[in-house]
Amino acid sequence: MTTTTTGTRTTKAVGTAHTRVEGRDKVTGAARYAGEIPFAGLAHGWLVLSTITRGRIRSVETGPVLEMPGVLTVLHHGNAPQVDTDYIGMLGMPPDPTVAVFQHDRVPHAGWPVALVVAETSEQAREAAEALVVQYEEEPHDVTFSGALPDAETTPGISGPGVTEKGDLEAELAGSAVVLDAEYSTPEEHHNSMEPHAVTALWDGGRLEVVDSNQGTVWVANELASLFSLDPASVRVRSEHVGGGFGSKGVRAHQVAAVMAATSLSRPVRVVMTRRQLFSLAGYRSPTIQRVRLGADAEGRLRALDHSCVSATSTVYEFTEPGAGVARVMYDAPAHRTANSVVRLDVPSPTFMRAPGEAPGSFALESAFDELAEKCGIDPVELRLRNEPEVGPVSGLPFSTRRLPECFRVGARRFGWAGRDPRPGLRRDGRWLLGTGTAGASFGAGAMPSTAAATAEADGTFTVRINAADIGTGARTALTLVAADALDVPTERVRVRIGDSDFGPAMIAGGSMGTRSWAWAVTAAAEELRGRLAMGDAVPPEGITVRSDTTEAIGALAQKERHSYGAQFAEVAVDVTTGEVRVRRMLGIFAAGRIVNPLTARNQLTGGMIWGISMALHEEAVRDRNTGALYGADLAGYHISTNADVPVVEADWVDDPDPDDPVGIKGIGEIGIVGAAAAIANAVWHATGVRHRTLPIRPDRVLTAGSRA
Ligand code: MOS
Repeated sequence: MTTTTTGTRTTKAVGTAHTRVEGRDKVTGAARYAGEIPFAGLAHGWLVLSTITRGRIRSVETGPVLEMPGVLTVLHHGNAPQVDTDYIGMLGMPPDPTVAVFQHDRVPHAGWPVALVVAETSEQAREAAEALVVQYEEEPHDVTFSGALPDAETTPGISGPGVTEKGDLEAELAGSAVVLDAEYSTPEEHHNSMEPHAVTALWDGGRLEVVDSNQGTVWVANELASLFSLDPASVRVRSEHVGGGFGSKGVRAHQVAAVMAATSLSRPVRVVMTRRQLFSLAGYRSPTIQRVRLGADAEGRLRALDHSCVSATSTVYEFTEPGAGVARVMYDAPAHRTANSVVRLDVPSPTFMRAPGEAPGSFALESAFDELAEKCGIDPVELRLRNEPEVGPVSGLPFSTRRLPECFRVGARRFGWAGRDPRPGLRRDGRWLLGTGTAGASFGAGAMPSTAAATAEADGTFTVRINAADIGTGARTALTLVAADALDVPTERVRVRIGDSDFGPAMIAGGSMGTRSWAWAVTAAAEELRGRLAMGDAVPPEGITVRSDTTEAIGALAQKERHSYGAQFAEVAVDVTTGEVRVRRMLGIFAAGRIVNPLTARNQLTGGMIWGISMALHEEAVRDRNTGALYGADLAGYHISTNADVPVVEADWVDDPDPDDPVGIKGIGEIGIVGAAAAIANAVWHATGVRHRTLPIRPDRVLTAGSRA
């Protein structure tokens, strides 16, 4: 094992490959998920969703269903307790009213929760739910997302203001030697984690106990406390193992319905969403229509950059997919404008989905850069190197680190980019046209306040408690390595416990900020504990516990642009007679802070890149204009990349420790998908000479477009 030094700390475990500490439990089935933990006296709830897209509920005919075997109750707007939605949650946003189930008779979209049927068994609940007759008064709906730009309102979203602008855009465009003006679009996309959303709720001696699958137990506990007007201290949420989240696992309709039922029945109640229900109730990525205008001088230096993004939201909640946000970070120009706007439709509320903003935004911006490179006659890698900003283009702040050029140089060398003939449509392998493409990537790298506790046990082991969520990222393992180094003990002596709101406040698994935020708190507690043990403190039978809170340290961080970066490279083969696009290989080189565990980090990064293949070629949720619902709301109808679609996908990184982080971490959860779809689309252009500005690049679209070669 190698020992390296960062700052003043000697590290041994951080930076070395470790299999997941809970890996054995997961593969042997010993790890229990929220929908399978045994509870005495458990009752099962089944959600009933609206079959109309807009209108009112006239009646819920509970009588016959209450006579069915095992049925205990039917909750609906006529009998459910009131909840309070007038609050701002942990993420600084009001709750999506979709979670406040059964509060009124209005139906604002297809798949709106209208009732919960509770029975002794899950099968009885399902049968009764399917038998429940709900009468509606139907109203006309509009679910069609189009480039109706006049209707769109610019709006602040999760990545800042609705509009940013500087300089005279029209003048710089008019004075540019080369101008590009193009529109790009991305479809509605769904997260659909492997483990569906699942919860069990019960009242226990004046406390609300919730076992759940989520990305942050304190987040969900606080939301439930607010909704039900409870003292947050009387709500405990546990979430030990989570089979994926991707942004969708916060508070959702099922948890609120389960709490209502547990209250009225005084029994533990479990609600598990079906895969089909995920398509209505778990949130999704809004479709986007984006316009990018670029103006450059003859050498490819930008004079004007204009990126606007329109997305859709529901009529009950404003969630803006901030696709133009990526332009605020990646490239500068004397005239620079970005705008995010939103239109309201009779559709479910969208939400965060892996790299919200950056994932669709980078498809537009990095495709546009490839088009500009073509127009300027400059290599796409070189064009990006010529447009490296000195400071944040919009913020004017210095970068903490920005090793994007290094990513491109290392990536180009490893991919074999040098000597690439830029002309499209020239390379053939039998019936396949071959091409290569590249794209840049960035994603925010922040830290949020968290608390942790480190305990020296009497038996010489250590227990770390932190309210982290391991949604498949490997966070539990990463924190074990971080704690071992901070304590200066082997990893075998460290046990990390996570996913329990009683452990105290901590950042959620979100925004690519989880591991960094938690590692900071774990390091602070563990280092102090190590200091106390070094002073000779004897360990009593109950152990010695040290607590940390990083609120002050993180509050004192200097204002900087903090991001992870990456360069994506792809090679594709296109059969223009069948329209088939195959990705042959992908390489992503990232500058994403200190990599704690290369094994799980590579898994995170390639997972994002594979999702990029899926986004480029397969994923698309299609709404039926007549019914307002999705066609094929399941994993047969909604195509995702599977093994045969994913050939050689490699991720690696350049050394990039964050200078302001105790461990040097930045964050790797989301950047893998950023730019991936653009690199593939750019490679398809290089193969065929045809630009695909609409995702996914389906066989029929390739066929219609043909080839210019
Ligand atoms: Mo992520 S979309 O912040 O879970």
